[in-house]
Amino acid sequence: MKRLTILLVLIISTSVLIMGQFKLVDLPYKYNALEPYIDSTTMYIHYNFHHQGYATNLNKALEKYPELYKKDIMELLQNIKELPADIQTTVRNNGGGYYNHNLFWKMMAPAGTTKISAKLEKKLIDNFGSVEVFKTEFEKAGMTRFGSGWAWLVKEPSGKLKIFSTANQDSPINADAEVKGKPVLTLDVWEHAYYLKYQNKRAAYVKAFWSVVNWNEVERLIYN
Ligand SMILES: [Fe+2]
Repeated sequence: MKRLTILLVLIISTSVLIMGQFKLVDLPYKYNALEPYIDSTTMYIHYNFHHQGYATNLNKALEKYPELYKKDIMELLQNIKELPADIQTTVRNNGGGYYNHNLFWKMMAPAGTTKISAKLEKKLIDNFGSVEVFKTEFEKAGMTRFGSGWAWLVKEPSGKLKIFSTANQDSPINADAEVKGKPVLTLDVWEHAYYLKYQNKRAAYVKAFWSVVNWNEVERLIYN
């Protein structure tokens, strides 16, 4: 009887908690879809443990302030300083991790399924001089980020495209970001994103990323 009561309490409290919680986007492909560039074990662990971990920690931090479950994650990240002081760091790190990975999965697609359109190519040439220069600068942003972080291609409010990187789980939507704007391409350069397959060779991982970029999504984000 005691066990049954505990079980019922657990079920009820879990279902109350689930309401309005932040949930991961569905992975838009199978775990092995980005092989051999991103291996299925890394994808599985990255999505189910790392990404889910950020969401779980974010949801847990908001338990004290359940009205915040109703907010959009971007709204929370853009206004961190207005949140209760005791959850600001957790929202920045775990809310950032939740948001960044939701973007990241959608910015990739199985190799050979998308390519740079003439329209996107022109946009990249207008902003960087050539597609090669764009790729080199983006790779450099990923390679020169010391420790953990993300490389970004950002559409500034002026419409100009900029490349930069952030530390930890920060992003271009943070109020204090060095470059602010709409993320249109991003690459996770945390070791958890590549270490199983590439070990210390971050450069090889960054170069392999080009084979699985979802160029249709990049173009959609730039123009929508
Ligand atoms: Fe990650």
